[in-house]
Amino acid sequence: MKCSRPFNFAPGPSQMPEEVLLRLREEMMNWKESGMSVLELPHRGSYFQEILDETAALGAKLLGLPSSHSLVFMQGGARAQNALIPLNLLGEKKKCDYLITGLWSEVSAKEARKYGEVGVVASIDASPLAIPPMEEWVLDKNACYLHFCSNETVQGVEVHDWPTFQKLSSKVPMVVDVSSNIFTRQLDFSETAIAYAGAQKNTGPAGVTLVVLNKNFLEKNNKKKHKFCPSVFDYSNVLENNSCFNTPPTLAIFITKLMFEWIEKLGGVEKMEWLNRQKADRLYNFLDESSFYSSNVKECSRSRVNIPFFLPSNHLMKPFLLGAREKGLLNLQGHKLTGGLRASLYNSMPLEGVNKLVHWLIEFEKQFS
Ligand SMILES: Cc1ncc(COP(=O)(O)O)c(C=O)c1O
Repeated sequence: MKCSRPFNFAPGPSQMPEEVLLRLREEMMNWKESGMSVLELPHRGSYFQEILDETAALGAKLLGLPSSHSLVFMQGGARAQNALIPLNLLGEKKKCDYLITGLWSEVSAKEARKYGEVGVVASIDASPLAIPPMEEWVLDKNACYLHFCSNETVQGVEVHDWPTFQKLSSKVPMVVDVSSNIFTRQLDFSETAIAYAGAQKNTGPAGVTLVVLNKNFLEKNNKKKHKFCPSVFDYSNVLENNSCFNTPPTLAIFITKLMFEWIEKLGGVEKMEWLNRQKADRLYNFLDESSFYSSNVKECSRSRVNIPFFLPSNHLMKPFLLGAREKGLLNLQGHKLTGGLRASLYNSMPLEGVNKLVHWLIEFEKQFS
């Protein structure tokens, strides 16, 4: 990808491909000679309905969803899902299981505690950070579902060993927060009940939440819904109304469509996975060789899309970030919880950006070691 803009390593909203931004500009004023901008299309009219159907179909195709699963579009971001999941899924038993691997799964569990009894199947090992192997997870056989986060954006750990019913020795409905690694690698949703992601990292702008729903599961689960579950956030209702129970975020869905088309043109999710591995290997190979920079994530749990790393002293932070900005490398500061630095290498970050970052790391080390 030719990129004349700075490289933006933000954890989300994140960099978008220049090609997509240019298409957005071109297609903004007069959609298909309708005389209306994409922004102005009525959501129940045929122009927008066509955009919506094409986006859902292409997203499902790229994700390799089986016919039992559908991709729908909601609002409220991943954090709204933290409440909607218990509201939609908790039955009489009111028990649910959570795997705690970092900030975002902790936030999900905290929200669920408002609605039911939360069991923790396992918690992240500290120093170095590592996701406990599945054999160590202790599942509650009375839990209505098991929730995990497939990629912790802040701590930079990723679930590489994807849970299956067989590996878990349980058919517990699985609910997954895929906010930061959906479309970055092939994920198997065939045994997943619900998967959700804000689009703003890998597939589009902020404002639309992608939700993968297992229709067979929802049908069986329908009676378990909480009576106060808002209609607009009721999964079966969203599905029945083709994501249009209320006015959907039309522009955000349109931009998501442009992103899906860009991913398809590049070779689909399989190709994205290959590209993302190249980028992560380039940065981690450098960090592993360095005695100046350090990483706190165990190799088996390293995220391919969010890479936290540290300088030998916090005093070096300011000159590092200032120098990076001058080189056109933006938003490398880590999360306030962890400190240090973090490079988010989502789908739209080209290898060229990672190479430029590594060159800056080398130059900075020479200057300050
Ligand atoms: C893994 C993960 N889950 C949930 C969230 C919260 O997402 P939102 O801001 O869309 O509610 C984030 C945000 O960065 C995230 O990275």
